[in-house]
Amino acid sequence: MDQTEPKPSARPALPTKAREAMEQLNTEAGNLNIWLRTQANAPAQRPWFRDAEIDTAGSMASGRVGAGQLKAAPYRWRWKEISPYLHRIAEVAKNADVPPVEFADRQQFLLTNPGLGGRLQVANTIRCAVSIYNPHDVAGVHLHTPNASRTILSENGGYTTVDGERCMAGRGDLILTPHGTWHDHGNDSTDPVIWMDVLDWPLMEFLDCIWLDEQFPGETTGKARAQTPTRREGYSKSLYGAGGMLPGIDSHQRGIAHEATPMIHFRGKDIRATLDALKGQAHDPHEGTPLRFTNPVTGEPLFPTLDYTAQLLAPGEQTLMKRETASRLYVVLEGRGSTEVGKEQFDWEENDIFVLPNFLWRRHRNTGSKDAVLYAVSDLPLLEKIGQYRAQGRAAGGKLVQLAD
Ligand SMILES: [Fe+2]
Repeated sequence: MDQTEPKPSARPALPTKAREAMEQLNTEAGNLNIWLRTQANAPAQRPWFRDAEIDTAGSMASGRVGAGQLKAAPYRWRWKEISPYLHRIAEVAKNADVPPVEFADRQQFLLTNPGLGGRLQVANTIRCAVSIYNPHDVAGVHLHTPNASRTILSENGGYTTVDGERCMAGRGDLILTPHGTWHDHGNDSTDPVIWMDVLDWPLMEFLDCIWLDEQFPGETTGKARAQTPTRREGYSKSLYGAGGMLPGIDSHQRGIAHEATPMIHFRGKDIRATLDALKGQAHDPHEGTPLRFTNPVTGEPLFPTLDYTAQLLAPGEQTLMKRETASRLYVVLEGRGSTEVGKEQFDWEENDIFVLPNFLWRRHRNTGSKDAVLYAVSDLPLLEKIGQYRAQGRAAGGKLVQLAD
């Protein structure tokens, strides 16, 4: 997408004496922190229900009314290009007088969307990092207002303790740290561990409601202050893992979170087994075989702001075109394939990460000989809550279908 392409204007510019007079007034009025309107609105997106061609793409808003606007671009980070930096970080940490986990809080790189001017975010509301923890590394106990998750990319090793429940990590696991829950991370295995962190940080930043607390009131161990577990391993799975049965022995409240899931650890092998059980059953032509993770108490998405899904694409399977007003970040857990988005095509393989911004048409294809499994995070719940979530698809013959209007 050419982001500099001017937006087709529905109205011709009208250079009038009145505009010039207003601009004149603006030169002095600016001192009072006011701006006399001399331009029409310049929306960056095209009308959802009127302009739905496959190559539909928004453009940058222009002029004073769109000043400072940024627009996320579709982008793919290849694992084979980015992952060597994790090992370089780990090497620096091993030989450091003070390791990055101490002077920078984490040993990680953050993914930056090339359309967002270097901001630490991959989409309008989503931040993504990839972290490495050497053996014995600990990120001390803390809580914060952004919601966060870990998608485990290493085979084994590493843990996150959330509100007293220690979650031992394995590949494909999804570990949630809802806003307002005390959590800490570490690695007590013998090899480095790697995971992907996803947060709604940019949204909270925009709302200016980010705060972080490190004064955990409970018992801790070690210099780096890891919370002492107060629940048995697998606690949330033992309460909620069967699905459809809600125990009466727990308040389901975690920390000071509002509307956040108390099921904080989904195991990769359980996710895979569930996808396997669905394989070959009725499927969604726009998503293959999708799973949506939900808060077991409310049936709502895991966080009020973020929705987590996993999806399986059979060998050779190609989904139909779809677009949403939400943005979606993907990580490839298994297989290889390609995704068309706007006018671009991203080939992908294991551990590649890619982002598909809002409003753009996309479709996925499994080009390998084995199943492909993608995990995704989107800001769909947020868009739904403010009445702005819409989705469209194409039927096999190309006809436009309203999936959520
Ligand atoms: Fe955190």
